[in-house]
Amino acid sequence: MKRWLQEKLICPECAPAENPLSLTATREEGDDVLEGELTCLSCQRTYGIEEGVAVLLPESSMDLLSTGSGYNSKAMLSSYLWSHFSEFFNGTDATDAYRTWSSYFKETDGWALDIGCSVGRLSFELSKTHSRVVGMDTSLSFIKKARQLLKQKRLEFELIVEGHMTEQRGCTLDRDWNYDRVEFVVADAMALPFQRTLFSTATSINVLEKVPQPLHHLANINHVLKDDNAMFVFSDPFSWDEGVSDPGVWLSGRTEGPFTGRGIDNISRLMAGDGGTFHPPFEILDQGDVDWKIRKTENLWEHITSQFLVGVRHQNRR
Ligand SMILES: C[S@@+](CC[C@H](N)C(=O)[O-])C[C@H]1O[C@@H](n2cnc3c(N)ncnc32)[C@H](O)[C@@H]1O
Repeated sequence: MKRWLQEKLICPECAPAENPLSLTATREEGDDVLEGELTCLSCQRTYGIEEGVAVLLPESSMDLLSTGSGYNSKAMLSSYLWSHFSEFFNGTDATDAYRTWSSYFKETDGWALDIGCSVGRLSFELSKTHSRVVGMDTSLSFIKKARQLLKQKRLEFELIVEGHMTEQRGCTLDRDWNYDRVEFVVADAMALPFQRTLFSTATSINVLEKVPQPLHHLANINHVLKDDNAMFVFSDPFSWDEGVSDPGVWLSGRTEGPFTGRGIDNISRLMAGDGGTFHPPFEILDQGDVDWKIRKTENLWEHITSQFLVGVRHQNRR
C-alpha cells in the first residue's frame, strides 16, 4: 500500500466516526508498504498489509476473504480480466462499456474512488484525469491482480477456454495510464474507510445490486464525495437477487413501498435529492444504457444492459 494513502484512511469498524489509522511498516519498497499493519487509535483494531495489499474490512465482512468461490474464484478472475482488458489483446470482440463510462471523467487535481473496482480498468482510466485514484473491492483475488497490473504495467493471465482448459494471454496496456497515481485496497462499499469529502469523483459501476444494503452503499458515497465540484458516475443492471439482498431493501422493482418502478428513475430521484440520501443533490448530466459483456468460457457469454447516470454537484447551486 502506497504511503500517500495512509493519512486519508479511517477505521472502517468505527466509520462514519473519523478515527485515523497509524501505520507500522515492516517491509517497504520505495513508498510502497509491502508488509505491515494499520491500527485504529480509538478501537485498537488492526488491519493487515500483506504482499502490498491492505485489507480494510470491518469485522462483519472478514469472512468474504476466506472463500475461494464467487468473486474470489479463478473463473471469475478470467471473466473480469477479459471484460476489462480484452480490447488490448483481442480488439474486435471487446466490450466498449468501460470506454463509455470513462468518457465522463473530467480533468481535476482531486482524488477519485472506484468502488467495486474488480481488476481495475476504470481506476486506471481515472488516473488519466485525477491526481490520485483508489480502487477498492471486497475480492482479495481481484485486488491482488489489480496491484500486479499496476506494478508490471502489463497483463499476463490464464484465460479459461472450457472447464480447466486455459490459454496464456498477455499484452501491454494503455501507455497513458498514470500507474503511480493509483492504489488498490480491499474494502467494503458499505463501510468506506476514507475521510469525509475526500473524493472529487466516485464510481459505482454494477455494484448496487451486489451489496446487501444498497441504500447504505449510496449513503457511504455521499459521505466521502466532496460537497462542491463533485461527480458521481453510477451504473447498474438492477437485476436484484434475493440471495444477495432482501427484497425489502431493493431500490426498484418492488410491488409496494417507496421503491416501486424502475431503478434508473428511482436512483435519478435519489441523486436529485429526494429522501435526503444525497446532499447537496446532483444535477443529472447524462443518462443512458451501456451494453456490457462478460466472457465466462469460449462458448458462454453474459450480455448485460447496465443503465447509467452521471451526476455533478456544486454547493452554490443548492
Ligand atoms: C458485477 S461486479 C462489477 C465490477 C466492476 N465494477 C465492473 O463493472 O466491471 C461487482 C463487483 O463488486 C464487488 N463487490 C461486491 N460486494 C462488494 C462490497 N460490499 N464492497 C465492495 N465491493 C463489492 C465484487 O467483488 C465485484 O468486483
